[in-house]
Amino acid sequence: MTPLLVRTQAYVNGTWCHESSGRTFAVHSPATGEQIGVVPDLTTDETRVAIEAAHAAWPAWRALTAKERAAVLRRWFELIVTHRDELARIMSQESGKVISESLGEVGYGASFVEWFAEEGKRAYGDVIPAHTRDRRLVVIKQGVGVVAAITPWNFPLAMITRKVAPALAAGCPVVIKPAAETPLTALALATLAEAAGFPAGVYNTITTTQSAEVGAELCAHPLVRKLSFTGSTTVGRQLMAQCAPTLKKLSLELGGNAPFIVFDDADVDAAVRGAVQAKYRHNGQTCVCVNRILVQRSIHDRFVARFVEAVAALRTGDSLDPEAQVGPLVSERALDKVQAFVKDAVAKGAQVQLGGTHRRGLFYDATVITGATSNMRIACEEVFGPVAPVFVFDTEDEAVSMANDTEYGLAAYFYSRDVGRCWRVAEALEFGMVGINEGLISTELAPFGGMKQSGLEREGSRYGLEAYLETRYLCFGGL
Ligand code: SIN
Repeated sequence: MTPLLVRTQAYVNGTWCHESSGRTFAVHSPATGEQIGVVPDLTTDETRVAIEAAHAAWPAWRALTAKERAAVLRRWFELIVTHRDELARIMSQESGKVISESLGEVGYGASFVEWFAEEGKRAYGDVIPAHTRDRRLVVIKQGVGVVAAITPWNFPLAMITRKVAPALAAGCPVVIKPAAETPLTALALATLAEAAGFPAGVYNTITTTQSAEVGAELCAHPLVRKLSFTGSTTVGRQLMAQCAPTLKKLSLELGGNAPFIVFDDADVDAAVRGAVQAKYRHNGQTCVCVNRILVQRSIHDRFVARFVEAVAALRTGDSLDPEAQVGPLVSERALDKVQAFVKDAVAKGAQVQLGGTHRRGLFYDATVITGATSNMRIACEEVFGPVAPVFVFDTEDEAVSMANDTEYGLAAYFYSRDVGRCWRVAEALEFGMVGINEGLISTELAPFGGMKQSGLEREGSRYGLEAYLETRYLCFGGL
């Protein structure tokens, strides 16, 4: 491990600290099982200290000009980019993400810091023509206050920066609780944030295994004004309920069940490339990964043959192997889920065309199954693993209705060369993000987020800044 960025302490109020009685927890590599670090197991006590420190730091941080805050964010961005290799290595070791993707994630994560450093300068208000001669109506935008960010293991860096960069740019201090699986990347980011010059209390990172207790504290504490969470819909619902008594603002980026539709007028080779990208990114462990592939009957066999060939060519390997395209799953629980989904599908009539095998440790073969139907678990629940089920449809209406037949509405993809169909289907799909002849759609420039039970608010882009701003109306009278 890289000594410079590997920390054994958490970061609260500008100091590196332990849990008061010295409790720690170990971090393990999903690829090798080896222990790669030990960090403090903080409790609700330290969480309260972090929240109060953030609140105390708020007046001075929000009093800076947007340009002054942007200068600190810009330094943080540059430090992240400079330490790209070390950050990617830490990330791969603790999350299992293959190194080529971790390098990509550092760039992706850094892009949010760069973007919001600039966008913070454009938190424009408004002047409204008044309804009487002696008044002036003005709208101003101000940061919401202390922001709590609860982030997942699958994007240990980018999900932090996508939340905290807009918050910090808007003048809000942050308290981050990274996933227990991936605290080391979060602490490495905190090291760089400290070096960039965020004042004490503005940037805090709480490492813990007590996710439920610490999460409850972040939701209940009246000084926290906004919670931003990425994770499962089940946990999102619980956090939302816990935030209700203090009526916190919420950004929730929750589960998905992404359909990938291939129409008979599609460029099949392009669709195969898109499906491989959208399915096997981080071994199927992203919220926007394809969960269901829907193929029009007349091209089903042609698509499946080429798709199986492309998936079979993916190279599985340890997370630090520069050639590896598919790594391990994150945990035994994830492995059990993937195996249970395949077993359920086969029991209900699906055929395994490729894979379906648990190799060693947390490695499960990239898998393609055909004959998938709506009564299978994989049709309704997020598999979060390397299994691609192929369904058949006959008409455009049927495809759209199959795609929308889910409580989720995060991402959807489809391939067609008919421009009319592209508009019709894009508008009919009930998903926050739609890739049209495109399998990789994430960028800091566009709003990321879901409809239905996939969440609230958007991250990235100008909409992602808005989520950390209060809209305030000032009425100047007696003029
Ligand atoms: C996620 O899986 O939550 C994020 C995926 C992305 O940003 O592309």
